[in-house]
Amino acid sequence: MRVFHSSTELKEHLSAAQKNGTSIGLVPTMGALHSGHISLVEASVAENGLTVVSIFVNPKQFNEAKDLELYPRNLEEDVRLLSDFEDLVIFAPSAQDVYRDQDEVEVDLGGLGSIMEARSRPGHFNGVVQVLHRLFGIICPDRAYFGEKDRQQLMVIQIMVNELELNVKIISCPTIRNSEGLALSSRNELLTEEQQQNALILYRSLQFVQIKKEELAPADIVRSVKTDVGAAPSSELEYLELIDLDTLEPVNNWKKGQNVAAFIAARIGGVRLIDNVVLKA
Ligand code: PAJ
Repeated sequence: MRVFHSSTELKEHLSAAQKNGTSIGLVPTMGALHSGHISLVEASVAENGLTVVSIFVNPKQFNEAKDLELYPRNLEEDVRLLSDFEDLVIFAPSAQDVYRDQDEVEVDLGGLGSIMEARSRPGHFNGVVQVLHRLFGIICPDRAYFGEKDRQQLMVIQIMVNELELNVKIISCPTIRNSEGLALSSRNELLTEEQQQNALILYRSLQFVQIKKEELAPADIVRSVKTDVGAAPSSELEYLELIDLDTLEPVNNWKKGQNVAAFIAARIGGVRLIDNVVLKA
C-alpha cells in the first residue's frame, strides 16, 4: 500500500498499471474511515486489479464553515486501517492540487436538485459534483463505489455520469449499521455515548415507516415521526420524506408496485445525521 499526496505522482503510478490493462476501482471518501467505508474498499478490491481510496475533506461541499472545521480528520489512523489491503493506494491531496483553478462543470440535477439534502444544504451537491469530476479526471477509474447510506448523493452521481457521458461504472453498496441499527458515519465520532443512543431515533423512525405503511397514510406517518423525534432527547428533525424513486415525487398515497424510499435527516446534539431505507412491498 502506498500513500500519494501529489496527483502528478499518482497519475504516473496509475498509468503504468492502466497500460497493462489493470482495472482501476475508486473509493472516494472524506476520511475518518469506519466499517462502512471499508465495505466499499472490499467491494472494489474484489473487482479491480488496483483500488484507489481518496481521502479528501472537500471544502466545496460544506455549506457551513463550522461544519467543515469540526469534520473529523485522522489520516494516520485511516492509513493504518487500510494497510492490510493489497493492490491499494491512498490518494490524500491538497485542495489546490485537486482544483487547480479549473472551471466548474455544470450538471442539471432536475428534481433531485431541489429536495431533501439539496434544499437543506444549498451548494452541497454542486461541491460533490465538482470534486468527483476532478477525481474521475485524475484517476480515470473503471468503477467507482458509493454507499446507499447517502442515497440522494448516489442518484446525483449517476445523473452526473450520464449527463457528462463519463466512462465510469457507478457501483452502489449497502448501508452498514452497528448492532443497534445506527448507520455508521464519520460524524458519529462527534457524538457522546449518550447521543449515539439518542441517534438510534433515525433508524427507529425509518423502521416505523416500514411497519406502519400498511395501516397509516403517508402524511400520518410523517406527523407521528415528527412528534416522536421532537419528544426524543437532544433530537431535532430536519425532514422525513417518503419519495417515489422513479418519479422523485413525494408519496401522498401508497400504491401497489411503487418503488419508495424513506429519507430522514436530524440533528442529534447539534450533529447532523442522515439515513434512508427502501421500503419493502
Ligand atoms: P464520506 O461521507 O466519507 O463517504 C464516503 C463513501 O462512504 C460514500 O459513498 C458514502 O455513501 C459511503 N458510506 C458512508 N457511510 C456508510 C455506511 N454506513 N455504509 C455504507 N457506505 C457508507 O460521501 C462522501 O464522503 C463525500 O460526499 C464524497 C463522495 C467522498 C465526495 O467528497
